[in-house]
Amino acid sequence: MENHHHHPAAETDSAALGEVLDLDAEVLHSFLSEVITWVHELAGDPRRILDLGSGTGTGALALVQRFEGADVVALDLSAQLLDRLRDKARDLGVADRIHTVPADLDAAWPAIDTVDLVWASSSLHHMADPDRVLTEVFGTLRPGGLLAVTEMESFPRFLPDDVGLGRPGLEERCHAALAEIRAGHVPHLGSDWGSRLTKAGFTIEAERTFAIELTPPLPASAGRYAQASLRRARTGLDDRLSADDLATLDTLIDGDGPDGVLRRDDLSVRTTRAVWMARRP
Ligand SMILES: C[S@@+](CC[C@H](N)C(=O)[O-])C[C@H]1O[C@@H](n2cnc3c(N)ncnc32)[C@H](O)[C@@H]1O
Repeated sequence: MENHHHHPAAETDSAALGEVLDLDAEVLHSFLSEVITWVHELAGDPRRILDLGSGTGTGALALVQRFEGADVVALDLSAQLLDRLRDKARDLGVADRIHTVPADLDAAWPAIDTVDLVWASSSLHHMADPDRVLTEVFGTLRPGGLLAVTEMESFPRFLPDDVGLGRPGLEERCHAALAEIRAGHVPHLGSDWGSRLTKAGFTIEAERTFAIELTPPLPASAGRYAQASLRRARTGLDDRLSADDLATLDTLIDGDGPDGVLRRDDLSVRTTRAVWMARRP
């Protein structure tokens, strides 16, 4: 997400982002649980954990449930997303082990005690100066502590190439337009995180790419994930796609007929995530 916190549309935007993040967690739960298991193997039994750019708490809540002796600090720019995280923590009965910290990491690093494990999922690329943030992370980890970084190599795709509405290639045109927008606003997306981690002093223990492809039949949450993602993308595409493409996109998002993503049976979920496990020596 771009830095929207001083923008009047920030609340709407963070509600839409929160929905996408929650659905991402629900639909890609087996990927998440695989990464958490891997963290468990490398991090042992951490007592203090920091989730950097926690959003609605996908990582923080999975970690607090896996590591029953741990406290988790969830840090994010957005107070609304942290509210959502706290509600979920209460429902899960883990609120006493989750501490939310609203902070803008582009401004200053907040006072945080030393931790054993840092989790940063799809958040580092949002920082104005990720190298500075990585240096702060290094200083906050105890020697021997682990940093787990996840980044999106490719944003989720849902549709078949031909959605049957006379606009083949529509989803790829959306992604090409979104990539142009992001190139201006999110310059660190897709940067070489391995060398940035090494430069900050970390030792890279492992790096893995997860090519995720979920195919039909999919649970209903996949349709909602497609709808929420396309709807959020749609807001930026007005001047960047043809009128025919925009009309088709609206049918896919809002249509209550068989063409709408909530009712299609030909959706899949394709996305690539890269994970680095980095240790403070
Ligand atoms: C794509 S979301 C990922 C959320 C979560 N880690 C997950 O995997 O679901 C990126 C998060 O980084 C947060 N963020 C962006 N810039 C930030 C900054 N300067 N300081 C703190 N958090 C920031 C956003 O508010 C958002 O919640």
